[in-house]
Amino acid sequence: MGRVKLKETIIKNLRDFNWIEYFKYNNSHLYKLDFSNNTELSNEEIKLITPSIKAFQIGEGSEGKHLSKCVRKFAFKSRYYDYPEIMRMFIAEENRHSQTLKKYMEIYNIEPSKKMLIDNIFRFLRKLTGIECEVVVLVTAEMIALSYYTALSNATNSKLLKIICAQMLNDELIHVVLQSDTLFRISAKRSSLYNSLVRTARKILMRLTAFIVWHKYKNLFLRGDYPYKKFKIHCMEYLQESIYIEKNGEVCS
Ligand SMILES: [Fe+2]
Ligand SMILES: [Fe+2]
Repeated sequence: MGRVKLKETIIKNLRDFNWIEYFKYNNSHLYKLDFSNNTELSNEEIKLITPSIKAFQIGEGSEGKHLSKCVRKFAFKSRYYDYPEIMRMFIAEENRHSQTLKKYMEIYNIEPSKKMLIDNIFRFLRKLTGIECEVVVLVTAEMIALSYYTALSNATNSKLLKIICAQMLNDELIHVVLQSDTLFRISAKRSSLYNSLVRTARKILMRLTAFIVWHKYKNLFLRGDYPYKKFKIHCMEYLQESIYIEKNGEVCS
């Protein structure tokens, strides 16, 4: 499976895109998942996917209290009145991801984690300042997730896991566009110097995160046809696509 691209979403005209209608539609057109078969994975495959799937399961779920507070503030300040509802639906979708992974883990008796260091660091970083910090950290994790779910899909022959990954990729791709659009709204009226500093910070954060995540879940990535070089290149390409949206307010064609 190759890299999915941001231009491959259904979003053609980002400035007119109705996010609320999209989330309603997406939520009522989910891929069918049948959790009754727990014989698709060998013991070796269960061992292979366990550490990373546990980490992503915990990372996907959140009440989003701090995020929601920042969202309300930003919506009021920027007169983007649909934003709180859009982000409420987005958080619900992330929690669905977490629940789906949990259900999949349950059929193979994989215990969910309560806490994880990487997840804690991400949550800490997100809460450092306001909406921009939240969204930058969020979208970095989502771009990493795009490569992770591609690798996870490649790593085993589980049909159910492949459908789950396809659903994740479908949803996360749109999430990356959503967060990038928010960054466009934030950066639009700011100095170009400030904006280029933020872009540099995003590149550093992406390089660091890609390095840590790949090395932590190396076995899974290698089995999923993601040597480090390819993983890093894909993460940086997603970032370039996200920065294009942040700069131009549209998805690159
Ligand atoms: Fe997600
Ligand atoms: Fe997401």
